[in-house]
Amino acid sequence: MEKLLEIKNVERFYETPAGVVKALDGINIEIYEGERVILLGPSGSGKTTLLNCLSALDSPTGGSYTFHGKEVPRNHSEKMTSFRRENIGYVFQFFNLLQDLTVLENIQLIQELAGRKNPERARELLTLVGLESEMNRFPGEISGGQQQRVAIARSIAKKPTLLLGDELTGNLDTETSKRVMQVLVQACLMENITAIFVTHDESLVEYATRVIRIDSGKIISDESTNSE
Ligand SMILES: Nc1ncnc2c1ncn2[C@@H]1O[C@H](COP(=O)(O)OP(=O)(O)OP(=O)(O)O)[C@@H](O)[C@H]1O
Ligand SMILES: [Mg+2]
Repeated sequence: MEKLLEIKNVERFYETPAGVVKALDGINIEIYEGERVILLGPSGSGKTTLLNCLSALDSPTGGSYTFHGKEVPRNHSEKMTSFRRENIGYVFQFFNLLQDLTVLENIQLIQELAGRKNPERARELLTLVGLESEMNRFPGEISGGQQQRVAIARSIAKKPTLLLGDELTGNLDTETSKRVMQVLVQACLMENITAIFVTHDESLVEYATRVIRIDSGKIISDESTNSE
């Protein structure tokens, strides 16, 4: 498998009145195409910060980051935005659907932005996450867990190279979590999507090919699972 991305000695420091917060403190990771990584760590350990740096929503304060061998833009919002549009699907910790668009329109919009319009696929994905009958409702008219499933369908719809999820099953019951993870794994395999999922839920490890644990901005373990 080919190498998708590599970060070397990545740091993200925040200057605060109380001193410097080292949210990421020298992180090294290589990720290969087709891997499904679960990122575990206690609250405040740097998980969201790491996903934000990987997706070029945020810029590291130190270290290098290459994607398909090319340096990822930082401190330049337009270049960072086009990097994200081309490559990244992101399901946020606090999902953000556009409230004025229906469920289906939310999905179609992201496909259009990525230049990958496909109305059939949009409907198919909503069916896969069990929302075929909510397709024409607005986000304000469905539950939190249903909105989360829309956000998940949307993240796959654009066929990103790299899919990032922050606590993406955090609002779902165990049954729905399982179904959503199965849909995600299936989509990753079918569309050759590489994925990194942040979670507190150790039971999701069964859906991963690799588990990385971080604490206080440092990697404390990085292991393959035997799922493949
Ligand atoms: N804008 C900011 N300014 C200062 N410190 C910040 C900022 N954002 C995050 N931090 C700090 O960086 C560290 C890592 O935060 P991060 O949000 O990455 O943690 P996390 O692992 O995602 O936690 P959680 O599981 O609670 O979501 C924490 O100590 C946090 O307080
Ligand atoms: Mg977080």
